[in-house]
Amino acid sequence: MLNFKMIKTVYIYTYGCQMNVHDSEKMLGILSENGYRTAEKPEEADLIIFNTCAIREKAEQKFFSQLGRTKLLKKKRQDLKIAVAGCVAQDAKDNIIKKAPFVDFVLGPQNIHLISDLVSEKNTRTSFEENPDIAYKEYITKRDSSIKAWVSIMYGCNNFCSYCIVPYTRGREISRPSNRILSEIRQLHENGYKEVTLLGQNVNSYMSDIDFTGLLRKIDLININRVRFVTSHPRDLSDDLIRAISELKSVCEHLHLPIQSGSDRILDLMNRGYSYSEYIEKINMLRELMPGIAITSDIITGFPGETDEDYMLTVKALEEIEFDGIFAFKFSPRKGTKAFGMSKHLPDNVKTERLNHILKIQEDITYKKNKMIERTIQEILVEGHSETDKNMLVGRTRTNKIVTIPDLQENVGSFVKAKIQTARRHSLYGINIHSGRILN
Ligand code: 5AD
Ligand code: SF4
Repeated sequence: MLNFKMIKTVYIYTYGCQMNVHDSEKMLGILSENGYRTAEKPEEADLIIFNTCAIREKAEQKFFSQLGRTKLLKKKRQDLKIAVAGCVAQDAKDNIIKKAPFVDFVLGPQNIHLISDLVSEKNTRTSFEENPDIAYKEYITKRDSSIKAWVSIMYGCNNFCSYCIVPYTRGREISRPSNRILSEIRQLHENGYKEVTLLGQNVNSYMSDIDFTGLLRKIDLININRVRFVTSHPRDLSDDLIRAISELKSVCEHLHLPIQSGSDRILDLMNRGYSYSEYIEKINMLRELMPGIAITSDIITGFPGETDEDYMLTVKALEEIEFDGIFAFKFSPRKGTKAFGMSKHLPDNVKTERLNHILKIQEDITYKKNKMIERTIQEILVEGHSETDKNMLVGRTRTNKIVTIPDLQENVGSFVKAKIQTARRHSLYGINIHSGRILN
């Protein structure tokens, strides 16, 4: 039993990608083993952790302005401890302390296992060492959901896309042993989890005793209902993997496959390792084998030297491919990356104009795609109540589309068959046709 007085509380701000969300779950797991519980609000916490993202300047600014506000809390309460973790920590290292001397601990994403050691120290501590053991560590994880779980399968990235800071902050690519991944998923299945998402910067270059296709085949035997994975690199998406996705029952019919640009010249400058026609070939094969598959993507607008022609090729790509959804970003120069030093950086207004135009085009395509599944029957995994209407439930299709359905007292975590009635721009509305109770 923990002594009540020993119990401390922690509040985590998490920025950025799923990897960070899961790293926060790991830090919470480690800290709860060491007597911490989660605080509802930062004002109530003994320890505040910022799990930061450095991928774009905007994410970094968001963190720094929140850190500035937190300084006021620290002024009021000297015993409050502040830790900065994640990619900004790794990138800025000791400069964080120079810039914000009220910060107590700084640790990079490869060193999150040290969080409990760090916070037990009286003095300021930092940790940024490259940690090749990261793939062999087991983490006690405090998961946010009891239905869907993130599972790390690899760490770091070797791709060095010319715009990207991740290889510098998360280090070299390293895969976790397959037996560890499989036993974690078996355990999740036994604990009632319905969905796992395999995490890595480039999951399809996973390589341990087996490759990524082999791993998916073994995971499929566990019989967990849904398996997803992010992120895939088009260059490493083999025919064998496409076939495996189409054959394996548990693997969901959704693929996030970042294209970044439709121009071969820009793709080359980005060091992406594929051409537009090679990308299209993969899409064609995916759709041939799985006509209902949803494909989503990432786009960067205004990469250095992107001409109107290059940009129009990206627009053409969107119109030709018709993604189910995209995440689009303005190019953000990151110090230390190759693109930072390239010539012909574009003015912000051009990047913004292109971004807004692309988002507008995609909005109509997403709507059209959503319309196409009206009147179809979809399996929905119920995730919780709608935030705006407590009489409605929200869940996702296997293709990862959000669907709202009436609450007929289904349990969170159950599967409901629903007929899609209405497609909206960003969501779908369905009617339960079977959920243990059959409707007239
Ligand atoms: N500027 C803008 N977008 C970026 N991304 C990565 N680095 C940058 C950058 N410097 C985008 C890519 C990637 C996604 C996770 O973030 O599209 O796929
Ligand atoms: Fe960055 Fe490219 Fe690695 Fe993705 S694959 S993390 S975009 S370097």
